Amino acid sequence: MQVIHQISELKKTIKETKEKGLSIGFVPTMGFLHEGHLFLMRTARKENDLLVISIFVNPLQFGEGEDLEEYPRDLTKDRELAYEVGCDLVFAPPVQEMYPPRYATFVDVERLTGNLCGVTRPGHFRGVTTVVTKLFNLVQPDRAYFGQKDAQQALVLKKMVNDLNMNLELIVLPTVREEDGLAMSSRNSYLSPQNRREAAILYRSLQQAQEMVAGGERDASVIKETITMTIKNNTSALIDYIEITDTRNIKPLAILEGECLIALAVKFGETRLIDNLLVEV
Ligand code: PAF
Repeated sequence: MQVIHQISELKKTIKETKEKGLSIGFVPTMGFLHEGHLFLMRTARKENDLLVISIFVNPLQFGEGEDLEEYPRDLTKDRELAYEVGCDLVFAPPVQEMYPPRYATFVDVERLTGNLCGVTRPGHFRGVTTVVTKLFNLVQPDRAYFGQKDAQQALVLKKMVNDLNMNLELIVLPTVREEDGLAMSSRNSYLSPQNRREAAILYRSLQQAQEMVAGGERDASVIKETITMTIKNNTSALIDYIEITDTRNIKPLAILEGECLIALAVKFGETRLIDNLLVEV
């Protein structure tokens, strides 16, 4: 397994791979790999000749006062895990390599970024779409893999790939969960033991919503109120948002119709967790 830090070296290796006609599966990450990442990597491993991952904590997608400095990092462990799943190449660039002085170009997907996490994290998706575009240009993957846990990110990136005619297939795989249902996330490592116990309620509240929809409930406000009360009655967490949207424009719905995204963001202490479920009505 190759570990590359420099763009010039990466370009050379990708050129050679392309000349051999090998397909590339790509999993972009911010490192501190967990089972959610490993699931994406194992799937990419099976579906492509070459598995490339990136490990880069992208400063551009962190807002002021967010956890850029504290974001967990462990490149040694990540390299071991990547090796174990059969990764061929890890691209782990330093920040100056991705954003040299006087860097000035950004990618912005409009409309879909105006709700949910786009409200409380202004500029976040611009950071994600910019770095992912750069990574796609460098790695030139045939297929790129993302997790459904970051539902809005996946929809925004799909839109970007489509609107900018990017030559790759974007694959979204189901959320990997802990035994009690908590969606896997590098940020779970911040949780105190009490918050960690309480955080299991997020998925339970989404499942409850899913059951309400299956039982015929179509009024979004009724479903959102039930999720709110479940979280408030069982945790000390602060709700950032609980929203139900369509999956095309990520616009809040009053009445559920078609494919709907039930999404939430909740703060346990300083740790903001997100989760979601898709329902078809
Ligand atoms: O989902 C993530 O870990 C990040 O947003 C991504 C896609 C690696 C871009 O930095």
